[in-house]
Amino acid sequence: MNPVDIAEPLRSRWSPSVFDAQHQLTDAEITRLLEAAQWAPSSGNRQPWRYVVAVRGSAAHRVLVPHLSRGNSGWVPRASVVFLSVVELGQDGVELSDVLIPTHDVGQASAHLTLQAQAMGLHAHQFGGFDHDAVAAGLGIPDTARVLAGIAVGVRGNPAEVSERDAERDHRERHRRPLTETAFGTWGVPWPGLAPSGRTVAERD
Ligand SMILES: Cc1cc2nc3c(=O)[nH]c(=O)nc-3n(C[C@H](O)[C@H](O)[C@H](O)COP(=O)(O)O)c2cc1C
Repeated sequence: MNPVDIAEPLRSRWSPSVFDAQHQLTDAEITRLLEAAQWAPSSGNRQPWRYVVAVRGSAAHRVLVPHLSRGNSGWVPRASVVFLSVVELGQDGVELSDVLIPTHDVGQASAHLTLQAQAMGLHAHQFGGFDHDAVAAGLGIPDTARVLAGIAVGVRGNPAEVSERDAERDHRERHRRPLTETAFGTWGVPWPGLAPSGRTVAERD
């Protein structure tokens, strides 16, 4: 059972760590995921997101994999594709002074991509645990842009093929802070309209 009465595919989305290392996405499917990000809203419609598409086994994938953190090095390489999100801060020859809003916009575009994956019967797991500088250098990303996160996308695989640690992660309880800690009327004071029923623990389908 999943959390609360929110819309699909928000409701069923979660981040698995056991991907099928044989599954491949078609170029059309990958394009559809990118289109979901493309149609995200952004400040001034600047669309500051960029994605490096690292299909498993591709040159970009070979750049990424050696720089994954230890905790991510088992499960990320098995995903069918990794999208590396990048915020472009030097558009139209002008270095954007505000980093926060463009970074917010990239996060939102990545959320759209992640939810599109879920809607297509795929799974997505975002990750930040990798050597960003080494990956940026290896991919030739210019100084005006910053690598933010990876989004691993694929279908779920056989837990018997992965480490116990990665297999176990897919059975952990999912928790959230209660809304009383995140939704305020006056800063620090829960918004008084909150319904009392909000769940903070979810099981997986
Ligand atoms: C920007 C970002 C960075 C993350 N980094 C990692 C990571 O390095 N390794 C990992 O296993 N999960 C990572 N996650 C996944 C989160 O741990 C996960 O989304 C969170 O625990 C909530 O679980 P859920 O997505 O299943 O709801 C990251 C998620 C985001 C959005």
